[in-house]
Amino acid sequence: MVPLEILEFPDPRLRTTAKPVKEVDGKLNKLIDRMLAAMYEAPGIGLAATQVNVHQRMLVLDISENKDSPLILINPTLSDHEGEIETAEGCLSVPGFYEPVIRSSRIHVDAINRDGNAISFDAEDQLAVCIQHETDHLDGKLFVDYLSATKRQMIRRKLQKLQKQRA
Ligand code: NI
Repeated sequence: MVPLEILEFPDPRLRTTAKPVKEVDGKLNKLIDRMLAAMYEAPGIGLAATQVNVHQRMLVLDISENKDSPLILINPTLSDHEGEIETAEGCLSVPGFYEPVIRSSRIHVDAINRDGNAISFDAEDQLAVCIQHETDHLDGKLFVDYLSATKRQMIRRKLQKLQKQRA
């Protein structure tokens, strides 16, 4: 199977707003498995469908140390944002850059899991940060959008240079 290609900033396709998933079927579950494989391979702790150029509201993540606790969120909605937490964020679509971003430290999450069942839970700290970061992708948003224009420009120039060298 051809590995999934992860889009990199400033690829305009990363700015697409994803559409809600209508049906959790075998095709979607196949994509979930491929996204998990790409995420673990990278390695990363989260990957949104937008990043592999599939514009449906779905994301995978795993913040566990042993990389054995995947969480799949389909059509996630976040609510009850509370508190603040600042962490250095990175992104598989912005490789090599880690910058501090302030997020809510606690959120409530409603979503559908890969079996098609509704799930609802509270998340805090790193899990909350990761879910907010990945959900942003589904709205065409990247963590660099929270940085200063100067810093974002610097990251864009460096990545474009690397992308040209690779092409
Ligand atoms: Ni990301």
